[in-house]
Amino acid sequence: ELVLQTNKPGAPIQPTMYGLFFEDINYAADGGLYAELVKNRSFDFPQNLMGWTTFGGVELKNDGPFERNPHYVRLTTAGHRDKHTGIENEGFFGIGVKKGEEYRFSVWARNVGQAPAKIRVELVSPESMGETQTIASKEIEIKGDKWTKYTAVITPSVTDAKSVLRVFLAKPDNAVVDLEHVSLFPVDTWNGHENGMRKDLAQKLADLKPGIFRFPGGCIVEGTDLPTRYQWKNTVGPVENRPVNENRWHYTFPHRFFPDYYQSYGLGFYEYFLLSEEIGSEPLPILSVGLACQFQNPGAEAHVPVDSLQPYIQDALDLIEFANGGTDTKWGALRAEMGHPAPFNLKYIGIGNEQWGPEYPEHLTPFLDAIRKAYPDIRIVGSSGPDSEGKQFDYLWPEMKRLKADLVDEHFYRPESWFLAQGARYDNYDRKGPKVFAGEYACHGRGKKWNHFNAALLEAAFMTGLERNADIVHMATYAPLFAHVEGWQWRPDMIWYDNLNSIPTCSYFVQQLFAENKGTNVLPLTMDKKPLTGAEGQNGLFASAVYDKDADQYVVKVANTSDTPQQLVLTFAGLKKKESITDGTSYTLASKDLDLDNIERDGSMNLNIAPVKADITVNGTKYDTTIAPNSFV
Ligand code: AHR
Repeated sequence: ELVLQTNKPGAPIQPTMYGLFFEDINYAADGGLYAELVKNRSFDFPQNLMGWTTFGGVELKNDGPFERNPHYVRLTTAGHRDKHTGIENEGFFGIGVKKGEEYRFSVWARNVGQAPAKIRVELVSPESMGETQTIASKEIEIKGDKWTKYTAVITPSVTDAKSVLRVFLAKPDNAVVDLEHVSLFPVDTWNGHENGMRKDLAQKLADLKPGIFRFPGGCIVEGTDLPTRYQWKNTVGPVENRPVNENRWHYTFPHRFFPDYYQSYGLGFYEYFLLSEEIGSEPLPILSVGLACQFQNPGAEAHVPVDSLQPYIQDALDLIEFANGGTDTKWGALRAEMGHPAPFNLKYIGIGNEQWGPEYPEHLTPFLDAIRKAYPDIRIVGSSGPDSEGKQFDYLWPEMKRLKADLVDEHFYRPESWFLAQGARYDNYDRKGPKVFAGEYACHGRGKKWNHFNAALLEAAFMTGLERNADIVHMATYAPLFAHVEGWQWRPDMIWYDNLNSIPTCSYFVQQLFAENKGTNVLPLTMDKKPLTGAEGQNGLFASAVYDKDADQYVVKVANTSDTPQQLVLTFAGLKKKESITDGTSYTLASKDLDLDNIERDGSMNLNIAPVKADITVNGTKYDTTIAPNSFV
């Protein structure tokens, strides 16, 4: 018997409780959420023509109109009537386009030759109906010798996940045309923004009803080395002038090495703040604390000396001004110029990702002092190191308490046994110290590091412990969020996609069920007359309960991690006289095959497992049910 004490609402559940961790890993930004289809659009990757094939008379130049992306290409005559000059872009694992949908091509160009000139833009499908075909094309006249942005909308005649974009010098043979920032976006992006996001992916984020949105990572905050750390100021202003940065994830894991993995910064801090707002989340930016990734830099040479941290601290202060400052401030004015005069109402900032050792608190201290002085209402998230246990963790938690961090970010990528054992993790945490941000976690169960249902089920079991302890756990975000089936380096992940389709995993559905039903207050639960704890579950059952005062609803979440069906009588105790509960809804996520998920090891995507909704009738104060083996209800 599971007894729910309806008349004893406990701690409030923070609106930020369940949310999203976003990092550009697994081609999550360029090649993923960011809807740009052209790779190396500004020719400013260190190998300037990476992603491009050139033919005919193409020259690389470096005195273009955008000082932080100075390279461009010059198209000149191919030297023969039957030859062509042009460039071809391979996209990210190809360019995915859909039949009948509109795509906006744009380019900065100038005509530096004698003659009037035209370029021809083509989408070419290498394998359409067994042969190479042009599936969309348009000509654009390039009129003068001033750099100008030209656009054309093209509509492919077939769907192709792996088309390429060609830009030819069309007419005349002796024309000379310069091209810079060659771009192709679907017209139909999330909320129609031109520098926008892939609609299916952003929609999946919104559908999760996230309360918090953490960006831009993860390790990329720190960088492989200090120069490649994420610098938010490089990610705002006109996209054409945002410098390319090496992605920290293109080096790691030799078997998943992607030498072409750079950050265009087209998806930058303005876009992250806007997305947070549009999906109803609180933004949570994480900034460098002046320590490069300590995994990759074991020595002190990649630490900024504490007395030289001022530019880093200024970055944090300026970011708060960018998000919240008036339009009469330097950074607030830039936000307004970019299209958002109203403040973004930033409330949280994280400093440092997964640093450890005494250098982390030493570096964090001057940030805390400066931010608190200038912005006493901003809540600051510190870190407990790369792992949720062990020496670094034991050292950093007391340090975070000493420094009075508002929240502490804990990370756990752990096996099944850990998730089963940690249902009670927060039951005895110090209630007077910082709050918990379970900032990165995923069950890497059964020795398998790919998505499978059992991992998601154990995450659900573990999350009942987060929820029961909502007085101290204020935020929790599964990680990583996104992965391209051809470009992943790390798995499991929450949402998978290829160039045309995307699929939520079982872990996604677990997160969604919690987030959509988080309620407003924790309710006490007893199982067979004993207070319910998360320690290894009871009969393999893990549970939590909440009241939602806005909807006047009770929500009980139960994970049955055992192989047997469990009879359960759910009793609603403490109802007022004449009150009774008459109806409700159940959602069940279950699978007989614990190894199955919606994404399979070979990359195939099918909606194998999804929550099943049913109406339920509660008999006054009791609800008799059977919780299926290996299910989350
Ligand atoms: O989520 C992948 C990585 O795991 C993150 O970048 C880092 O913070 C952690 O080590």
